Amino acid sequence: MKNPYYPIDTVVEDIITETPTIKTFVLKPAKPIPFRAGQFMQLTVPGEGEAPFTPSSSPSVKERMEITVLRTGKVTDSLHEFKPGAKVGLRGPFGKGYPLEKLEGKEVLIVGGGVGLAPLRSLIYALLENPAKYKRVSIKYGARLPDELCFRRQYEEWSKVAPNVDFTNTIDVEAPGWTGRVGLVTTLLDDLDVNIDQSIALSCGPEIMLKFVTLKLLEVGYKPIQIYLSMNRKMSCGMGKCGRCNVGHYYLCVDGPDMNYDKIKHVPNVFG
Ligand SMILES: Cc1cc2nc3c(=O)[nH]c(=O)nc-3n(C[C@H](O)[C@H](O)[C@H](O)COP(=O)(O)OP(=O)(O)OC[C@H]3O[C@@H](n4cnc5c(N)ncnc54)[C@H](O)[C@@H]3O)c2cc1C
Ligand code: FES
Repeated sequence: MKNPYYPIDTVVEDIITETPTIKTFVLKPAKPIPFRAGQFMQLTVPGEGEAPFTPSSSPSVKERMEITVLRTGKVTDSLHEFKPGAKVGLRGPFGKGYPLEKLEGKEVLIVGGGVGLAPLRSLIYALLENPAKYKRVSIKYGARLPDELCFRRQYEEWSKVAPNVDFTNTIDVEAPGWTGRVGLVTTLLDDLDVNIDQSIALSCGPEIMLKFVTLKLLEVGYKPIQIYLSMNRKMSCGMGKCGRCNVGHYYLCVDGPDMNYDKIKHVPNVFG
């Protein structure tokens, strides 16, 4: 039987600089690793360690996988120094992934912050492959500064996929040359024009952002059961064995990382 702790040899084929602190790594594993949007991988950097990342690429692309990584510490610093041809290991996928079946026929609201758009991009690819299945796909995204907006090259393309798909972004504070919206990502929810009764909202970003997005969604009329949050906390085994990732009685690596807010709303300090 395959040892789930043993990583698959993987080559970094290409590296795309997204922002001064975020890079996308195009990975070619020795054998294809099928995954569902929202499932995550454990990536090993030899000599440095292992860290969890959710693929940012389309689940339909089988031979290659992309992960988009914010530079923040030991493993990610080392990854950011990599050149094409470098070797890493991948194990997974882990977790349940986004509840795609529950989104069919709904007005899907996607709210991302910073590098949180990376896991959501995999969901966006999955939804935009067949936009007619959803009543609406509305993507809201915020970053601190224009330079920190991830995947800028794709926004126009996403907006044009179908009449029921829209994309809006904002930056936190005024910046020279920026003519778009200014304000935290929650301000994009002030003038929300989705039909809330028929909507499901999914959000990924820093914990503080998840907290204020959730409060805003509740304020505008979403029920906890209509909200999914990517709880991308520290993880280790990825398989419900080590107990590093529990929230209440849930193990995020097995039951998440995308959790229905209704299930976790009573957990003390749910937002860290
Ligand atoms: C399921 C899951 C999916 C993820 N997907 C992505 C992704 O697509 N792109 C991406 O850039 N990152 C993602 N992360 C976060 C990523 O795993 C961490 O940034 C990474 O583990 C940091 O490792 P490091 O060795 O570079 O930093 P370390 O040296 O371990 O830590 C450096 C700093 O980062 C903080 N940190 C470490 N892990 C996390 C975390 N999970 N969340 C917030 N802060 C953390 C530490 O507290 C410390 O302050 C994901 C995390 C999880 C659990
Ligand atoms: S990461 Fe080990 S139990 Fe979840």
